[in-house]
Amino acid sequence: MRQSIQSDSDSLLSWLINSLFDRRIFSLAEGMSRSMGITTAAGLFSSATNIGMLFLVSMLIAGVINGQAFIALAPVIGGMILLFLIRGAADALRDISAQHTADLMKYSIRSRVYEHLLRLGPAYTEHKSSGSVAATISDGVDSLEQYVGFFIPCLILCFAIPAALFVAFSALLDVTVAIILLVFVPLVPFSIALSYKLSWNEKLDIWRDYHDLSSYYAESLQGLTTLKMFNLSNYRAGQIHEKAEKLQNTYIKALKIFFGVHYVCDVVPYLGYGLALLYSCIQYTNGKFGIEGVMMVLLIGPIFYEHVIALSQHFHNSLYGKRALDTLEQIMNEEPEVTAPITPLTLTNLESPSLTFQDVSFSYEQGREVLKNCSFQVQSGETVAMVGTSGVGKSTVIDLLYRFHTLRKGTILLDSVPIDQYPLDQLREQFSLVSQETYLFYDTIKNNLLIGSPDATDEEIMAAAEAAHIHDWISGLPEGYNTMTGERGTRLSGGEKQRIAIARAILKDAPVLLLDEPTSSIDAGSEQLIQKALDILCRDRTVLVIAHRLSTIRRADRIMVMEDGQIMETGTHEELLSAGGYYAKLVSAQMRMLSNSPADEQPEGSYE
Ligand SMILES: Nc1ncnc2c1ncn2[C@@H]1O[C@H](COP(=O)(O)OP(=O)(O)OP(=O)(O)O)[C@@H](O)[C@H]1O
Ligand SMILES: [Mg+2]
Repeated sequence: MRQSIQSDSDSLLSWLINSLFDRRIFSLAEGMSRSMGITTAAGLFSSATNIGMLFLVSMLIAGVINGQAFIALAPVIGGMILLFLIRGAADALRDISAQHTADLMKYSIRSRVYEHLLRLGPAYTEHKSSGSVAATISDGVDSLEQYVGFFIPCLILCFAIPAALFVAFSALLDVTVAIILLVFVPLVPFSIALSYKLSWNEKLDIWRDYHDLSSYYAESLQGLTTLKMFNLSNYRAGQIHEKAEKLQNTYIKALKIFFGVHYVCDVVPYLGYGLALLYSCIQYTNGKFGIEGVMMVLLIGPIFYEHVIALSQHFHNSLYGKRALDTLEQIMNEEPEVTAPITPLTLTNLESPSLTFQDVSFSYEQGREVLKNCSFQVQSGETVAMVGTSGVGKSTVIDLLYRFHTLRKGTILLDSVPIDQYPLDQLREQFSLVSQETYLFYDTIKNNLLIGSPDATDEEIMAAAEAAHIHDWISGLPEGYNTMTGERGTRLSGGEKQRIAIARAILKDAPVLLLDEPTSSIDAGSEQLIQKALDILCRDRTVLVIAHRLSTIRRADRIMVMEDGQIMETGTHEELLSAGGYYAKLVSAQMRMLSNSPADEQPEGSYE
């Protein structure tokens, strides 16, 4: 029994220490120590001047009661005014520096987490809801503001001020009254910890509910068009309402606990303060204390508890932030799937390098292999088209060239050197990609084009846009190249986005060109023009083009057919047709489909 009480109080003590002081914040955020020190020093100074001021007030009241002349009390009044002004300045400095600490913390954590997310790459972010990650970085970090700005500096004041007052009361007044006041100070954080430990539980996770609501909300906004199309917006609104209600209920329950804890925080110090007052009144009637002594206890006694009470309020607000800290820690503990080589080779000025896949096996999830011992080569300067049914793994080949994922087996070579021996950024510099999904940032068209080459001049941008047959369209926009694209490029059609992507690839001017269905969203007329631009772009480069349109496929030097995670056939259009394999079946199926569709519906020029 005694042992269990002992272990309970040990766990309460360790819970209290861990809850009060969370070291993780210092490993996540850097450079805050100085401003935290200033906040603490300003807080100490403010408390010291406050104590001095109240000491003078007690002297003034005692003087008035003892019938001292007003002129004799004038220096006391002057001192009070001076200390009052100094205290105001110290308070202002404390608040400014607390805000500065919070700003430093937010900046430091946000940039570190974002840098880490960049290192984790798409392998991590594509499996997480972007709304959830955004909520952690924005609101989660915001909720730590109170903890670093006020709570941690307040912890130091909780020890320093009562200790200093204890010495002052013992020296100037009486040791017993100092002991009575001091003994109740540690009881405040203990009663806070005990009440939270008894009433707080898993169901009261405000951060989890908030996180849940905000990520659902963000996704509902992103998918608004789809929801409207499927007439599901009301259903989704109902779900949001439910989640908001759940958050509100959790919040109210947490608030009830806070008020309960706050009540304890009020009662415990008043017990100590009341006892000390009672004791000093008895001593006064016994003639052992003067009126100054009673005044000192009356006015300065509450300051013993001032900071532990403030701590309880900051503590409650920090519980929410500290849950966000758990999520941030989880992100930071995540290890990147792909790592840079320890002794990287330097990649310089490759000219149309060859690409080789040697026995490459890869799976996103265990037990579901996408590539199985896949081997092929694209020779230097060659244009190779890759065809295959949907989901066979064509785009995965491109992702693996970029090293977004780790191979399970095999090697990928760029000019006979395994790509994992090059620094990641230098490797990715070698590729220009026009992908299936072009992501446009909420920015001007010009800045979206500059992603291809941040240093490009206006003339170079326009030349690239002209080559991609998008210049005339851009020029017709109200603000030309400075027109905003709308989030995710919502103001652009699929074909327009694709042409922007082609212009980006032209601007990047990398030695290897990777095209993932580059003309799929473009009408036949534009396709011919863009094909001409792509033909120029493909010249003197190594090109891997994934395509479904025969017109694109037939332009290639060679065609590779991917099936069942491997390259099953390779050759020219004619060779593969006469071989009568998968490619021949694919072509005849597409021809049949075309001849069955009415003439005016046929995508002109798609098939030759
Ligand atoms: N990030 C991912 N996580 C898990 N599975 C994935 C991921 N990306 C793709 N896959 C799966 O891997 C397989 C190959 O996908 P991939 O995108 O390479 O196909 P594809 O040949 O490009 O198809 P399409 O012609 O439709 O573009 C598919 O079954 C797909 O569901
Ligand atoms: Mg694909």
